[in-house]
Amino acid sequence: MTPVHAIEITDAEGTSRSCRKLGRATEYVHKIAFRVAINYIVGMLSIVTLISGRGSNFEAIVKTAQKERWPVKFAGVIANHSAARGLEFARSEGIPAFIVEHKEHATRESFDEALIEKIDALGADLVVLAGFMRILTPGFIRHFEGRLINIHPALLPSFPGLHTHERALEAGVQEHGATVHFVTEGVDEGPIICQASVPVREGDDADTLAARVLVAEHQIYPRAVKWFLDGRLRIEGNQVKLQPPEPQFFKL
Ligand code: GRF
Repeated sequence: MTPVHAIEITDAEGTSRSCRKLGRATEYVHKIAFRVAINYIVGMLSIVTLISGRGSNFEAIVKTAQKERWPVKFAGVIANHSAARGLEFARSEGIPAFIVEHKEHATRESFDEALIEKIDALGADLVVLAGFMRILTPGFIRHFEGRLINIHPALLPSFPGLHTHERALEAGVQEHGATVHFVTEGVDEGPIICQASVPVREGDDADTLAARVLVAEHQIYPRAVKWFLDGRLRIEGNQVKLQPPEPQFFKL
């Protein structure tokens, strides 16, 4: 399943052909009914989110979806341990919450296989990594290729990996930020969907900078998810083209 299906199915040839056999009025009704049915069935893509901690990005996505009435199903949230605070928010919203405990698996491969099984059983069209602190195996990444996205708290390709805010301060950069990207096998290297920059201010420490970046994260992650759901993202080489084009970089 890819995000372009909604567009392709809406233009289905078979429907136009069958409509020509009917009168114009019938054709009109038929087309409207077809669109409503397609939007209902195909528009309802399913998201599964993986978290390890507080889950504020997940919360931002759910709240934006509710506010903007996205036709989307939050099929489930999976955490790799029971203390992940984001599980509480999921439960409070009636979103199925699961724990796939990484400590119960002897190898990364076995943990990832259990995750794949759970995510597939939930019928995910899109897998959203939102502060999921486990390194994923190539097998997992290949399985969800093109429908696995992540948010990283830095302006990639600068500062991949951990402790990004400390490293940005140490490097003396004047701008820092966040990146939403498709996940590929290289760590924090996948095609960039969008980014937001924030200024580094005099007197910042890692916490104040992290808080400023987090505000940016909560703005761009929901945007990126919506673009995906609307079938607007095309991966070309290592770049993501947004159709129709609009800015993919924000200065906050
Ligand atoms: C965020 O800073 C995100 O960029 C990083 O992990 C953190 C998760 O925060 N990948 P939250 O759990 O979404 O609040």
